[in-house]
Amino acid sequence: MSDVVRVGIAGYGSMGRLHCYSYRAAPMIRPGGVRFEPVIISGRDRRAVAEAAHRYGIEEWTERWETLVERPDIDVVDICTPPGTHAAIAIAAASTGKSVMCEKPLAVTYPDAWAALDAVARSGVRHAVGFNYRHLPAVSLLAEMVAAGDIGEVRLWRGTWLSDEFADPTIPFDWRFEASLGGSTIADLGSHLMDLAEWMVGPVADVVATSATFVTERPDGEATRAVEVDDASAALVRFSSGAQGVLQVARAAPRRPCDFTIEVNGTAGTLVFSYDRLNELWFGDGNDDRRLYGMRRIRVEDPSQPETAGWWPIGQGIGYDASFVNQVAALAEEWDSGRWSPGFDVGARIVRVCSAMERSAAEGRWVSVDEVLGEPAT
Ligand SMILES: NC(=O)c1ccc[n+]([C@@H]2O[C@H](COP(=O)([O-])OP(=O)(O)OC[C@H]3O[C@@H](n4cnc5c(N)ncnc54)[C@H](O)[C@@H]3O)[C@@H](O)[C@H]2O)c1
Repeated sequence: MSDVVRVGIAGYGSMGRLHCYSYRAAPMIRPGGVRFEPVIISGRDRRAVAEAAHRYGIEEWTERWETLVERPDIDVVDICTPPGTHAAIAIAAASTGKSVMCEKPLAVTYPDAWAALDAVARSGVRHAVGFNYRHLPAVSLLAEMVAAGDIGEVRLWRGTWLSDEFADPTIPFDWRFEASLGGSTIADLGSHLMDLAEWMVGPVADVVATSATFVTERPDGEATRAVEVDDASAALVRFSSGAQGVLQVARAAPRRPCDFTIEVNGTAGTLVFSYDRLNELWFGDGNDDRRLYGMRRIRVEDPSQPETAGWWPIGQGIGYDASFVNQVAALAEEWDSGRWSPGFDVGARIVRVCSAMERSAAEGRWVSVDEVLGEPAT
């Protein structure tokens, strides 16, 4: 069938599985556009990738991501490997004319992100970064309401992301603790939040940040290995618009699984989203009758609201997976236009913002995002 787009997925771990699931579910939830068919998956562990391929219903598997890039019958390379590997895979895929979907963060360093952006721009292929949380109905409605001026001019933005992924000191060393492969907690969790911040409030001008690594050594076989990334970081943010922001990201917060919050305060109101109530948005309308002073709980599952199309009747709940399924549905609908969004331009920009935070934490000073350079010197 001509509307079938053949996908090679690099990485069979948590994101490889979720992306595969989303390619399958998207046509059932939101038909329209092309249909993506995962046809081959790669991973470094022969047995594990073979098992994953079987479980995910993918016919072919390989230990080499290069195979996905080399095969002429693959249209899209979907990158679900550790961040430090993204740029090389994306550049190779673009060089053979494949469209590229890449998990966040686009890269660990801004020069690598810039090189990936340069590669897709030169080859003219479609490119997208996996900022899936834009596709959660409540987050999307929040952005829509900010853009519509429902809270007036944005003055304050606040984002926190708390996880307990690193809280246990006995968790062995893996790629997430290696800076060149996993990047920082700022890049891992902060990239989602800063994407949402810039999407809602506009560009970040400068930042000041502080980072801490509480567990400095991790078991590595019989020995231990030094942890190279932060367990937690915090930052103050100045937006170009004059708005102020505060960010906290942590993978060392016990009993906090993936709790992220966003609050935006404008001249005429407040919007609050909390991931532990992911179908709700809280709205304090500064123009309400004063007798109604307070915050209104909006249920964001109604077909009148963004990113709800095709999901369950209001009250049944729309979940984490919906953000990925909606992301795939958008890529399917945008296929014929030859452009995907958000693209590597956004991905590279967010790596730049996160790199400014990392530099600030290392140097103990305010850092302008413009100071972070990636383009090769001419
Ligand atoms: N959008 C989200 O909500 C979200 C959530 C979790 C992870 N992620 C991102 O997805 C990516 C993958 O994370 P994950 O949780 O699926 O990881 P994972 O550890 O579950 O899976 C990693 C996969 O990459 C492969 N791999 C490991 N090291 C490699 C290397 N050096 N070269 C090539 N392949 C390698 C492994 O074989 C495995 O298939 C990361 O960029 C991460 O930040 C995004």
